[in-house]
Amino acid sequence: MQNILSFLTILALFSCQPDTSIDQKVDDIIKQMTTAEKVGQMTQIDHRFLDDHEDITDYAIGSLLSGGGSHPKENTHKAWVDLYNGYQEKALASRLGIPLIYGIDAVHGHNNVKGATIYPHNIGLGATGNPEIVRSVSHATSSEVAATGINWTFAPCIATPQDYRWGRTYEGFSSDPKLVLDLGVAAVEGYQSSTKKNPRKVIACAKHFIGDGNTIYGTGINNLVDRGNTVLTKESLKKTLIPVYQAAIDAGVETVMASYNSWNGVKCHGSKELLTDILKVEMGFDGFVISDWAGIDEIPGDYKSDIVTSINAGMDMVMVSGEGEPYKKFMALLTEAIQEELIPMSRIDDAVSRILRVKFRAGLFDDPLMDYDYLSEIGSDENRQIGRDAVRQSVVVLKNESILPLSNSNGKVRWSKIVVAGRGADNLGMQCGGWTIDWQGGQGDITDGTTILEGLRENAPLGIEVVSDPLANSVKGDLAIVVIGEDPYTEFFGDRDSLNLNEEDLQVIENAKAQGMKVVVLLISGRPMNIADHFDNWDAFAAIWLPGSEGEGVADVLFGNYNPTGRLSFPWPVHAEEGTSASSMLYNLGAGLSYE
Ligand code: GLC
Repeated sequence: MQNILSFLTILALFSCQPDTSIDQKVDDIIKQMTTAEKVGQMTQIDHRFLDDHEDITDYAIGSLLSGGGSHPKENTHKAWVDLYNGYQEKALASRLGIPLIYGIDAVHGHNNVKGATIYPHNIGLGATGNPEIVRSVSHATSSEVAATGINWTFAPCIATPQDYRWGRTYEGFSSDPKLVLDLGVAAVEGYQSSTKKNPRKVIACAKHFIGDGNTIYGTGINNLVDRGNTVLTKESLKKTLIPVYQAAIDAGVETVMASYNSWNGVKCHGSKELLTDILKVEMGFDGFVISDWAGIDEIPGDYKSDIVTSINAGMDMVMVSGEGEPYKKFMALLTEAIQEELIPMSRIDDAVSRILRVKFRAGLFDDPLMDYDYLSEIGSDENRQIGRDAVRQSVVVLKNESILPLSNSNGKVRWSKIVVAGRGADNLGMQCGGWTIDWQGGQGDITDGTTILEGLRENAPLGIEVVSDPLANSVKGDLAIVVIGEDPYTEFFGDRDSLNLNEEDLQVIENAKAQGMKVVVLLISGRPMNIADHFDNWDAFAAIWLPGSEGEGVADVLFGNYNPTGRLSFPWPVHAEEGTSASSMLYNLGAGLSYE
């Protein structure tokens, strides 16, 4: 009871002084905090690894997260609200009653939540080239995130991927920093604008600072790409990547996530030059810096030195996670480091001030709990329509030998029997890709949505029969649509040394050709792949990236209900492994066909 009273006292204190600036309120709280409470505020734990929910109260934990695949026991909408409220009430019961901020990777919709709208991954949004649809997608995502109580998404990723062997290529809007800048700003504004119905704001997170998409092949995990070394002069950084983050900061992004990679051999997580001198001083960032998942552990040295190095470098909150190093060990070692003056209290107060400032800006001190009132936002028709529109705009038609659209503008049927084949034709998990329900995504009916095949069936004009024949070897039609591509992956699980197409997919295309059918190939992928040796006998080809749950958007383009506007936001090499530095390009940045 005492603790609730102290929260109410704090609330009364602040609410009766409406003109008190946030900074004054923050200072007032800091003055009351013990070192242990400050350490607690700087600690972020994945809820799955809590020893005891009472720890949130006892240690004044500042933040929890749901990492990829981290759900309530039952993945229902009410269960998410109950999970959030349960933890928030524990935080409000702490001595000073400082509310939690709860983070999640809502990177293409509220993608941990069953039934949430799943939007195209950033590579598809990049192909739209349209800040408005990106703003709408981010805003709709926040309306679904806020409905579950959660107040912080670890998005947008504003990487500029260069080497497509990187498993996170699809998390980037584009290889072109200028396009990433425009779409990154739109995403931040979309995520952080309160929804018309739900006053709750969702805080965005620009990630991963800095150079995550520019690492050198062979320097990453498993001698591949992810978390490798980025070699760029400071001048080059200032010309290319820093303006992208500056624009996100100027757009009001409240958090920045440090990147796993190294910059010129120094781990970003331990770089004072990056996290303080450049980000906070030169760029004027006044939110807070969050580490990546156990990101400080990868700094050379033992765990205590990792803590000292990263906090002194400017890390404000550590995503300990609790899966590796126990969070009580983190808090004990951080406390020790403070007591031994290895980390000055001024640095701790700066970190905690930033965290509290963001919590005030997020409205958490005013209205920390959520009710069930907004659950209808999740997977709403309105939000799914936004998804369908984004899918339409993301499809890039790259080859069309007078095949598309499948029916012309006055509805005259051109192909009466269409065979739909391929692994990706009726596979929601494959079209959603990684970061969907589970960290690595999954196959088949992993959530609610419309597959490519279902979209074609439900939108086929009169006179067109749509038939499913997965291997294209038993039904002969006028034309075959063969949907091929990559199985879902996330982060370094998607690092590859080769970007060849799947042999099984190529066989299905051959089967369709052998039956004498015209063939339209649709590629589901997180990046450009090696098509040059195969696409000569494809009659039409479109890259559909990772479209998400609203597969009808693809049918809209194929049937001509939407004249394709998608354009490549990554150049497409003859040899995809060569990425943006390839000597010969099949298609340049900006390539894409519309219908005459
Ligand atoms: C992951 C990713 C990061 C994500 C974080 C929390 O390892 O690198 O993008 O936000 O952990 O899931």
